[in-house]
Amino acid sequence: MPDKSTSSKTLPAASSAAQETAAVAAPETPAKPVKIYPIVKFGDPILEKPGASVKKFDADLEQLAEDMFASMYAAQGVGLAAPQIGLSLRLAVVDVTAGKNPEAKIVLANPEIIHAEGEVREEEGCLSIPGFRGYVMRPQFVTIKAQNAKGEPFEIRGENLLARAFCHEIDHLNGILFLQHLSMLKRDLIKRKIKKLRKLGEW
Ligand code: NI
Repeated sequence: MPDKSTSSKTLPAASSAAQETAAVAAPETPAKPVKIYPIVKFGDPILEKPGASVKKFDADLEQLAEDMFASMYAAQGVGLAAPQIGLSLRLAVVDVTAGKNPEAKIVLANPEIIHAEGEVREEEGCLSIPGFRGYVMRPQFVTIKAQNAKGEPFEIRGENLLARAFCHEIDHLNGILFLQHLSMLKRDLIKRKIKKLRKLGEW
């Protein structure tokens, strides 16, 4: 990680004195090292309670969003909600390209679904429930409104995987896990297996 953040901001070698002066006058804020948060697992009550609205949009929140992206990439996920790192806050990050396209990074503060259309039944997993997946019906298209890390409101429409990620993350902010969308049979089966893993100290 430190390699990337330092090497990409290197000035050209032939920087004149004038440029150096300019650099001193307007120093570039050094990129803070990112923090990789451990992911909270199923069983922790924070995952099943609604998060508080994001009210303060400042440098700390922007840093938190970047840390969440880094934590999500480290865990190889395409979405991560603040309760999953132990913060009961209506903040989530989504990147369905898993870091391949920097423009696909989406910060969702206080997101809400304003339109949903169609239905797709597809297998889904969750970083907080590792090793278990299940088929969940989600809208094919959703339009959501949210605020970015600076507090600026925006609307975005997602299709298929992106729509699914939006719904899954917004569920997290409401204390809902994908298990709740499964049949009782399937849900109980997964919960029993997790209980067993916990007894073995493997959860
Ligand atoms: Ni999840």
